[in-house]
Amino acid sequence: MGKIINIAVFASGNGSNFEALVKAEKRKLFNGKIKLLIVDKEDAFAVKRAQKYGIKAVFVNPKKYSTRHRFEKRIIDVLKEEKIDLIALAGFMRILTLHFVKKYKGKIINIHPAILPSFKGAAAIKDAFEYGVKVTGVTIHFVDEKIDHGPIILQKAVDIKPKETLKSLEKRIHAIEHKLYPQAVKLFCENKLSIKKRIVVLKK
Ligand code: GRF
Repeated sequence: MGKIINIAVFASGNGSNFEALVKAEKRKLFNGKIKLLIVDKEDAFAVKRAQKYGIKAVFVNPKKYSTRHRFEKRIIDVLKEEKIDLIALAGFMRILTLHFVKKYKGKIINIHPAILPSFKGAAAIKDAFEYGVKVTGVTIHFVDEKIDHGPIILQKAVDIKPKETLKSLEKRIHAIEHKLYPQAVKLFCENKLSIKKRIVVLKK
């Protein structure tokens, strides 16, 4: 068995994907340890979930810092302290600077509730539903300098049913997310992902 990958999850709100990752770790789905939850909102429900599992949660208050770099410097200090190897963004509603993204190149992944490059942005499920697409889904990708853009690790399609409502679609998308994100983390932990240009190649 290889080295245990130390993971930090960044969230701003509910944290259901964070919890799905924690549960997957407990089931030993991947050889990694979720050491840390970082939130940029004090009242993020994700913090409650972290407390439930005894995982360290750190609130980094963006209002306390005069620049994004200073805000991120504080985050970087915590990441270093915990020797973090992988950052998993899970509903983190803040854009990371180019500096941060470069520093952790190939080590930040994100989950997006649509089939990228369609429906980027914060309201992807609603946008896809209102657009009337018949298929949407979930994407896990590496984070690069552009939003919802980096190399794609995994995608899973979700058909939109004739009687679908936004609520039912949200529920189905989230259920897929909770399965797919742990799978992507597993591939990362097993060192099975290599990036050629923007293509993620799955190593055998
Ligand atoms: C998820 O739909 C994720 O794809 C998006 O933000 C949402 C976060 O949900 N980036 P949760 O906080 O994990 O419940």
